[in-house]
Amino acid sequence: MADQVKRRTGLITGASSGIGAAFAERFAAEGFDLVITARRIDRLETLAARLRSQYSRTVDVIGADLALVDAPERMCAEVARRGLTIDALVNCAGFGVPGSFASSTWVRQQELLQVTVMAASELTHRLLPGMIERRYGRILNMASLAALVPAPAGHTLYAACKALIVKFSEALANEVRSYGVHVTALCPGFTRSEFHDVTGTRALVQKLPGWFWIEADLVAREGFDAVMAGRPLCIPGRVNRLIATLSRLVPQRLLVAIGRLTARGYRKSD
Ligand SMILES: NC(=O)c1ccc[n+]([C@@H]2O[C@H](COP(=O)([O-])OP(=O)(O)OC[C@H]3O[C@@H](n4cnc5c(N)ncnc54)[C@H](OP(=O)(O)O)[C@@H]3O)[C@@H](O)[C@H]2O)c1
Repeated sequence: MADQVKRRTGLITGASSGIGAAFAERFAAEGFDLVITARRIDRLETLAARLRSQYSRTVDVIGADLALVDAPERMCAEVARRGLTIDALVNCAGFGVPGSFASSTWVRQQELLQVTVMAASELTHRLLPGMIERRYGRILNMASLAALVPAPAGHTLYAACKALIVKFSEALANEVRSYGVHVTALCPGFTRSEFHDVTGTRALVQKLPGWFWIEADLVAREGFDAVMAGRPLCIPGRVNRLIATLSRLVPQRLLVAIGRLTARGYRKSD
């Protein structure tokens, strides 16, 4: 493909595990050079070494804690200092805050907003002008199926952040499509990764049937294809697409009641 022959570079946040690591693999396999970032640099270095040897790509590692307000600015400065231009951006870093809104600390909620909303928006804002100027850009913003269905207890700001990402991406896609920049919001459901270990809810979500789960590789593959094709919304996995469709067709009150009942079994809300 002509896109890949030019040796484009993709910057992927949250690349030290799960879906972000799968995206690094996918973009490298599709011919992109990479800048991968997260806090766990040892993980990134191991992944970078493998991708360099397996796909003969250039892979830069930049350690960053995106909960810090100045992290996106510093990251972009480091990218520029290394003489790199970013053609694709995958805003994948994120986590959940288990339990009720009242029982969590404000610091953790603030970090959630900073990592999943502020950092993702700021990185997009900083890297977009270059993409517009070069008439090529691919931006994938990690949302969630949680953005498309009624929000159960225990999902407060998380679902709200993801809904914001969907709306942001949808509008931005319309703003920049004529400049050759594609923007996609990605809405996976339950995905095998370290997400539920970080939130400490592994034992609870383990109760969900296997068909509810998808692999991180599938999310990365469908997300990559969607952004390349210029589709503004991507819901990976057949079951997730069915859930999203039903949530548009089933009356809202019934949907809220179903959500309330089912979420009790697997979501920590106290
Ligand atoms: N797994 C699911 O069921 C699911 C479903 C829908 C959406 N998602 C979304 O998918 C995205 C990736 O999650 P995942 O499932 O792949 O979980 P994961 O395996 O826990 O990966 C999360 C990634 O985010 C990074 N991260 C977290 N806090 C960070 C911070 N303060 N600064 C920089 N990087 C940070 C982590 O890196 P370090 O810890 O090394 O910093 C890690 O690379 C998230 O946005 C999540 O909301 C997940």
